[in-house]
Amino acid sequence: MTNETPISADIFKQSLRLLAGGVCICTTAMNGERLGLTMTAVCSLTLEPPTLVVCVNRDAGAHDMMRATKRICINFLASEHVELAELFSSTSFKGSGRFDPAKWTDMKSGMPALNAGLAALDCSIIEESTVGAHSVFVCEVKAARLNPEKEPLVHFNREFCELLPIA
Ligand SMILES: Cc1cc2nc3c(=O)[nH]c(=O)nc-3n(C[C@H](O)[C@H](O)[C@H](O)COP(=O)(O)O)c2cc1C
Repeated sequence: MTNETPISADIFKQSLRLLAGGVCICTTAMNGERLGLTMTAVCSLTLEPPTLVVCVNRDAGAHDMMRATKRICINFLASEHVELAELFSSTSFKGSGRFDPAKWTDMKSGMPALNAGLAALDCSIIEESTVGAHSVFVCEVKAARLNPEKEPLVHFNREFCELLPIA
């Protein structure tokens, strides 16, 4: 790994494919309508206060509702959730119909939480900025539901993967 290449869009994409990421579905809701999308651009920021950075494409169906409500729920997916990850990133199946009522229960805030997810973090958006096609949301975590016994869903090199412990 000694061949250094000047960065280009293609090399940047190739590079980021090599960064394994936990897969989330980020949701919001307003006036009885639920929206959400599959995401890996979720990163911890500070412990005090408990904050995360979440980067959402401004063309995403849920983006404008997230900005309007300033409230989101970040659902960490388990390895059994590949189909859900595909559904919430589908280019053909959009909107509230992605939510099977049997699989989702609202947090006290009204944000949709996945019952069988690894974790659901109910957040307020406290700051936002724009970089290129994306909004960068700084989110303060207000409440959590945890299922720590589950295995995570990981995205690496354009594939959904499971984690294997190093023996
Ligand atoms: C594994 C994976 C990770 C993704 N990560 C993000 C992300 O961090 N931010 C983002 O805006 N879109 C991300 N996307 C793309 C959105 O899920 C996709 O564009 C989705 O269709 C947008 O929502 P919409 O269909 O409701 O507009 C990701 C997709 C996949 C499959």
